[in-house]
Amino acid sequence: MKSEKEQQLIEQAYAEIEKYRDMVEKDYYRLHYHLMPPVGLMNDPNGLIHWNGVYHVFYQWMPFHTGHGAKFWGHYTSCDLVHWKQEKIALAPSEWFDKNGCYSGSAIDNDGILTLFYTGNVKDEYGNRQTYQCIAMSKNGIDFEKKGVVVTLPDGYTAHFRDPKVWKKGENWYMVVGAQSKNLDGRAVLFRSKNLFDWEYLGAIAGGNLNQLSDFGYMWECPDLFELDGQEVLLVCPQGLKAEGMKYHNVHQSGYFVGRLDYEAAQFFHGSFTELDRGFEFYAPQTMLDEKGRRILIAWMGVPDQDEDKHPTVAHRWIHALTLPRQLKLKDGKLYQTPVKELQMLRKDKIAYSGVTIANEEIMLEGISGDVIELHLENIRLLGDMEIAIRNAARLIYNSGERVLTLERKSFANGLTEKRQCHLEYLHSLHMFLDTSSIEVFANDGEEVFTARFFPYKNNQTISFAANGQLVFDIEKWSL
Ligand code: FRU
Repeated sequence: MKSEKEQQLIEQAYAEIEKYRDMVEKDYYRLHYHLMPPVGLMNDPNGLIHWNGVYHVFYQWMPFHTGHGAKFWGHYTSCDLVHWKQEKIALAPSEWFDKNGCYSGSAIDNDGILTLFYTGNVKDEYGNRQTYQCIAMSKNGIDFEKKGVVVTLPDGYTAHFRDPKVWKKGENWYMVVGAQSKNLDGRAVLFRSKNLFDWEYLGAIAGGNLNQLSDFGYMWECPDLFELDGQEVLLVCPQGLKAEGMKYHNVHQSGYFVGRLDYEAAQFFHGSFTELDRGFEFYAPQTMLDEKGRRILIAWMGVPDQDEDKHPTVAHRWIHALTLPRQLKLKDGKLYQTPVKELQMLRKDKIAYSGVTIANEEIMLEGISGDVIELHLENIRLLGDMEIAIRNAARLIYNSGERVLTLERKSFANGLTEKRQCHLEYLHSLHMFLDTSSIEVFANDGEEVFTARFFPYKNNQTISFAANGQLVFDIEKWSL
């Protein structure tokens, strides 16, 4: 049962959805096949789980305005990762231990009970923060009952201690939490439990100025640790990294270390940090292992502290969305991300050309345009540079001399052109998903990914291809 206070907050949030439904739905920039908040602000995906054949995605949600604050957990379910149903609100910030927000966390199946772990964020009247790792349970996967606090702050950390991700290994449950040490280093901290209620602190398994890593940000958010293709991967969002060449240009970063967790010593031995996504909006990714054995990642298509008041959708009382679900694979120590194959269900009206040849010119291809489409370029052979201009609001450029892939867009904050880039040894394929106001580009079958929001004019649906030198490719396009 939910407390009266929680029930009241939930009713207020439903009223907010009703009040602004028309305004939200009238926005041309509402996405067609991505998860968005019904009203207000969405940030991190939470509690990803494939449970009794149903995919559950919870999310950080502020129903009452388009800024941050005391977050709820919204909830979507799907049988196929493509068609989603909005479920009842899972958690509202009602109790002494979570009154300033039911912050991010994860889900597990405990013997048929869908169990959530989340951070209770608490602030006093002076703004001092406290943090509690909390648990909530549901028999039907829809109605959740809070069971209180299971982890309090261990010594040595500030109250920036949050985002529990829980998994089972052998007889034990483990929880990794994002943290800031008292020396202001970002950390990933490990706990162990037999019963999900009593947790033993094992220590920081990785972080800045620990083991082989030097300074690496003042806070690590949203850790996720999992096995993949015979190794272990730690995803984490370090805050406070300085831009370095083509790396770390967003306000906060999101990436991974590949390594091995020594459960006994509570140490994660790992290689270097790699950004998961090279675009403008990507943060707080979380993964789940589905019943088909796939490791699936979904991230927030946004970044904290990034000109949120300037987003065009704020005028329609909503902001942000989640990325498409992506399957992860590890090849030669690098994570590859590919859109889950269920997304092919959305395809209609295929148009294809093979052996398109362009030499020092810009062309458009009959039927290759639109605002809600999938494009697949394969067998790319390039001598020189190529460019794909998308709806006069973004450009994708590959420079084969410098071996650099660039995504440019018109900034929604000031209208100026801005870019993100990465090194790419060669380019053989580009798989792009365009929605009314988002773009996801998977280069070379997911070797590099660029995710971004963009806000083109509705009437401009043009896509053009240009080469400085010679370019040959095959292309398929679907409306979605
Ligand atoms: C990441 C984050 C998490 C926190 C949540 C609050 O975007 O700051 O660390 O739990 O958002 O909404």
